[in-house]
Amino acid sequence: MLTLGIDASTQSVKALVYDSEARRVVTTVSVNFGRNLPEFGSPDGFLPNPDMSVRRANPLMWLAALEMVLGKLQATFDTSSIAAIGGDGQQHGSVYLNAKWFPALRAIRDSRTSRPESLCAAVSPCLSRRESPIWMDTSTTAECRALDRRFGGYLRETTGSPAIERFTLPQIMKFVREEPAAYDATARIHLVSSFLCSVLSGEDAPVDTGDGAGMNALNLRTLAWDEDICGFAAPGLVKRLPSVCPPGAACPLRLAPYFEKFGFRPGIPVVPFTGDNPASLVGTGADKPGVAVVSLGTSDVFFAAMDSFQTDPDGYGHVFGNPSGGFMSLACFKNGSLARERVRAMIGCDYTFFDETAFERAKGTGRAFPYFESEITPIHPATGIEADFDWDAADNADKVVSVIRGQVGNMFDRTRWIGMFDEIRVTGGASRSRGIRETIASTFGARVKVLEVTDSAALGGAILATRQVK
Ligand code: XUL
Repeated sequence: MLTLGIDASTQSVKALVYDSEARRVVTTVSVNFGRNLPEFGSPDGFLPNPDMSVRRANPLMWLAALEMVLGKLQATFDTSSIAAIGGDGQQHGSVYLNAKWFPALRAIRDSRTSRPESLCAAVSPCLSRRESPIWMDTSTTAECRALDRRFGGYLRETTGSPAIERFTLPQIMKFVREEPAAYDATARIHLVSSFLCSVLSGEDAPVDTGDGAGMNALNLRTLAWDEDICGFAAPGLVKRLPSVCPPGAACPLRLAPYFEKFGFRPGIPVVPFTGDNPASLVGTGADKPGVAVVSLGTSDVFFAAMDSFQTDPDGYGHVFGNPSGGFMSLACFKNGSLARERVRAMIGCDYTFFDETAFERAKGTGRAFPYFESEITPIHPATGIEADFDWDAADNADKVVSVIRGQVGNMFDRTRWIGMFDEIRVTGGASRSRGIRETIASTFGARVKVLEVTDSAALGGAILATRQVK
C-alpha cells in the first residue's frame, strides 16, 4: 500500500510517498517558498518585517505550494496508486477565516458545481487576516504575562505548557487587541495543519491533540478546548476553533474532487493533520516510551513519547498529544548548532578536530555553556560563553569538549521530568560528530543511534495515513 505524507514546514512543502509493505520511502518532492514561489516575497518562509519579533506568512503561499508540490508529484509518479493521505504543518501558526470559508470548502468538495480556478482563488476572499503569525513570532510577551497573572501554574498543568509567545492563544489575544473588527469578522481559526487538511478534504477539518497542544488552549486532561482559558483570551473563541480529534478517533475525511486534477483516485481517505514535531515522533519510530529523539539543528530539540500526562515542574518543557496515543514531551534549546559553529569559529579548528580529535585529547572535566542567543531552556540572556573553569587559560580540546558537555548536560538536567531512556536516536547535521554522540551516550546512559531518515515529519504523516486504511 502506498500513502502520501505532506509536510508544510517553515521553508517548504514536501510530499513523500511511503510503501508500508516494503517499509520504504518511494519518492519525495518539495517546493521551496523562497526559490519556487518568489512572488510571495518570503525567501525564508515569512514576510520580512522591520520588527524582528514579528514573523508572519501569507497563508495563500502555503496553498500555492500545496498545488505546486502535487503537480510536481503527478509529473513523476502515478498518483492514482496512492491509497490515503496524511500530513503535518509547522506548529503554532494560525489562519483566520471569515464566514465565506464554509461555502468555499463546499465548492472544493462539490463535484457537481464548477471547480475553483485555484485554491488561492477559492480561499483568498475567506481571509479575515491576510497574514498568519508563525512559530518564529515572539511579539506577544504582554499577552503571555496577562495569561500568567490570570492563570499561573494552571495553564501549564492544563495545557501542558506555560504561556509561550509563539503559541497560538497569545497570538490570538494580540490580534483581538490590535484588530478587534477583523477578529469579529473571523468565523474560524485554523492551525497550519488543520487548514491544509480542510482544503484537501473540502471539510472544516479538526485539530489533532498533537498540534492542538501547541496553542495554550487545549485541556490535555479532557482533550477539549479549555472554556476558562479561551473565555479569558478572547470573546467567543471556542466557537471559532475547529473540533478536536483525539488520536486514533475515527474521522472520515475524504480527498475532495478538486484534487482529481492531480490524478488521485476519487475519495481516498485523508487523515487529520498533526504538528511537525508529533509527526516526526511517528516518522522516527519513537512514538513508544523508552526511545527519545535528539535533533541537533539550528536549535537542539529533544522529544519522546510519554506514558501519562505529566508536566515539567520547572516550566521549560512542553507536552503535546502523541498521534499514536497518549502524550509526548518536547524541550527546545535555542543555542544548538549555531552556537557550536560560533565556538568552532572562535577556536579556528576544522570539523575533524571539533567532532573527534578534541574528544581524544581533552583532559579537563569542566562545563561551558554557549549563550550566544538568549536561551529559553533555561531562560538565560545572551551573555556569550559561561564556563565553570578558567576558559581563557584552557586549551582548544578542553574548550570544545566542555561546550558539548555543557550542552548535553543541560539537556539531560532539563529532561529528567520525562524519565529515563534506553535508546536515544540522534538526527540533524551535528549527529555526524562521534564526540557528541558519545557524550550523549555516557550522559544519558543510553544507546545512541544515528537516524537515517531525513524527512521524518512527512514520513510520519504517511505512516499515520496507513493506519486509516483497513
Ligand atoms: C515547536 C516549534 C517548532 C515548529 C516549527 O514548538 O515551535 O519546532 O513546530 O518546526
